[in-house]
Amino acid sequence: MAFLAIPSLIQDLIPAASESINPWNWNLNATGLFFPTMHALSKFALLGACAVQSVMGLPDQVSRERREANLLKRSVDDWVNRETPIAWQRLLCNIGPNGCAVANQGVPAGVVVASPSRANPDYWYTWTRDAALVFKGIADAFARNYTTDLHTQLKNYVGSQAKLQGVGNPSGGLSDGQGLGEAKFMVDLKEFSGAWGRPQRDGPPLRAIALIRYAKWLVENGHKATAASQVWPTIENDLKYSAQYWNQTGFDLWEEVSGSAFFTIASTHRALIEGAQLGAVLGKPTRVYTTVAPQVLCFQQSFWNAREGFIVSNINGGEYRRGLDANSLLVAIHNFDPSAGCDANTFQPCSDKALSNHKAVVDSFRSIYNINRGIAQNKAVAVGRYSEDVYYNGNPWFLSTFAAAEQLYDALLVWKSQGSITITQTSLPFFRDQVAGATVGTHAAGSTIYNQIISAITAYADGFIEINSRYAHSNGALPEQFDRNSGAPIAAPDLTWSYSAFLTATARRDGYIPSGWGAGQATSLPSGQCQKFEIASSYSLPPTPSFPSSISPAPNAPVEQVTKVPTGCTNPEKVFVTFNQRASTQVGQVIKIVGNVPELGSWDVNKAIPLSAAGYTGSDPLWAITVPIQAGSNVQYKYFRITNGVAGVTWEGGNNRSYTVPAATCNIQQKNDNWQ
Ligand SMILES: *[C@@H]1O[C@H](CO)[C@@H](O)[C@H](O)[C@H]1NC(C)=O
Ligand SMILES: *[C@@H]1O[C@H](CO)[C@@H](O)[C@H](O)[C@H]1NC(C)=O
Ligand SMILES: *[C@@H]1O[C@H](CO)[C@@H](O)[C@H](O)[C@H]1NC(C)=O
Repeated sequence: MAFLAIPSLIQDLIPAASESINPWNWNLNATGLFFPTMHALSKFALLGACAVQSVMGLPDQVSRERREANLLKRSVDDWVNRETPIAWQRLLCNIGPNGCAVANQGVPAGVVVASPSRANPDYWYTWTRDAALVFKGIADAFARNYTTDLHTQLKNYVGSQAKLQGVGNPSGGLSDGQGLGEAKFMVDLKEFSGAWGRPQRDGPPLRAIALIRYAKWLVENGHKATAASQVWPTIENDLKYSAQYWNQTGFDLWEEVSGSAFFTIASTHRALIEGAQLGAVLGKPTRVYTTVAPQVLCFQQSFWNAREGFIVSNINGGEYRRGLDANSLLVAIHNFDPSAGCDANTFQPCSDKALSNHKAVVDSFRSIYNINRGIAQNKAVAVGRYSEDVYYNGNPWFLSTFAAAEQLYDALLVWKSQGSITITQTSLPFFRDQVAGATVGTHAAGSTIYNQIISAITAYADGFIEINSRYAHSNGALPEQFDRNSGAPIAAPDLTWSYSAFLTATARRDGYIPSGWGAGQATSLPSGQCQKFEIASSYSLPPTPSFPSSISPAPNAPVEQVTKVPTGCTNPEKVFVTFNQRASTQVGQVIKIVGNVPELGSWDVNKAIPLSAAGYTGSDPLWAITVPIQAGSNVQYKYFRITNGVAGVTWEGGNNRSYTVPAATCNIQQKNDNWQ
């Protein structure tokens, strides 16, 4: 996060060695490193196997491992119990208007500040991505344990985001949706106009997912009309953005690589499926989302490196890295849907692909950090973003180490609920690290291998939490990173996302299963038949949300469940028309279409629709966009070109073009044009 990979900036952003050693009340005296329980654990380890045998009277290896696992569990239990209220308190401290770290500093209600740090690094901003992940966690916690305080936070979040969608910024405005792809804003919701990696297309789908979680709660508690009128308009803009821009490049979640990021694509897919699910219950049009979603899921499969068994996190750019990246661990945990079992297409945490990837990503950090030295292959280690990282010298991050744990807790929940574990050739190396005798096949609950795996993975997962507990500040504060050599907690202090990552990982550890998003009903296109079309819609500023004061949980919730993903095209009042315009352009130029119907901006060039160059090649200069237009419309339209940094537009020549949209049909119409 928060780093722009312009090489000349790198030196400016990396603190001098002296700064990185002792920035925030880090006490490096020998005992200050550990909580008492961890202290006990390390002493225990020092006793060694012989001592264990004579002291504890446990002769065999298995018993010793069980002892160690129990001790680990107890010490993690202790830390989790202590850290949970601290994490909640400090997370809420970073949310306006009253959070203790941001109060009276111009932070409006519902705005998440990334970290109170204003220098080295300056994180005194609000990121759409961070805020959405934090509020998704809040909404899940709220749904399982209603409090009026969290409810106020959620309503504030809806209000802040409805407003934020209308804030013009260097990525663009709301008229064609492009401004929604801006990554960060000033804490008072003004635009951030400095140089940055933009756009970042994961913000809109992640925000939709967070808002959908709250909207589902409203539906399930009998407040459907409120969900439809107060929350849906903001969700809808984000879903439209996802359906329109999914197939264009943008910066990844670490804000460094321009290309296609696995995290962005997977988040987009989830938002479209879950948005269609909610939209159907609210009686809103959903065909745009259900049409695009299978294409996104199809594209999502292409990030898999089958030969080496891991997700290449950035493609279409950023290939100078191997691709092993905590990006993919975050996908596994944030797209977890227990109803999809161990489905690999949607990258469920217990799928063979996600487990093989977990091993590959975690292993990529084993040898590069000094603090991971000498840790056995079957034990947890500190996890960073990606091994080539140079930001702050490239350190482990709390949130990625928590994610490594959370994926395993998710997998354990599914295995236990389905009563079996399936091992494939793909996942075998992951399991063999933990249980040497693991074999390909399905191992039922009660079998030796099943039991061995459950206890080994439980301890493995706890190990990641233990690593973070060891390197957290002794008062429980969690910054962004910890030093790869000393383990000292460094970089942005009190990172809101770190607390959220702790809370979601430990909620899974405690057995709290998040509600599903329809992953089990998602369909993909047959492999090799991925399509490329993107669907444009019109965007409008959501009305300022206002919530009836009477909203409260229904005594016997749920009143209505949001579970079914709509399929097909049942009521095609709009016909999908794909405009294919062949126009040779240069970098920095964009082709747009404008026309007489509202769907084409009613001849207002400010409401024109940008075409996508996703299909543009040297031999075929294709610009394309699919637009849902009222069946039977008589359309007059024209294309024009804009050039980055140049005022005004360049119209194509000739008369206005005309096209009659056919009567209602589910077939997508193709209109082929050449720049004239
Ligand atoms: C629910 O929230 C209340 C108030 O914050 C808290 O005291 C209680 O422990 C929570 N219960 C659970 C199960 O999380
Ligand atoms: C667009 O989608 C196609 C089909 O899935 C894919 O091959 C291509 O890489 C994608 N491009 C971008 C920039 O998303
Ligand atoms: C196209 O239509 C617009 C709006 O009616 C009009 O202003 C413009 O003159 C037309 N262009 C041509 C070349 O006829």
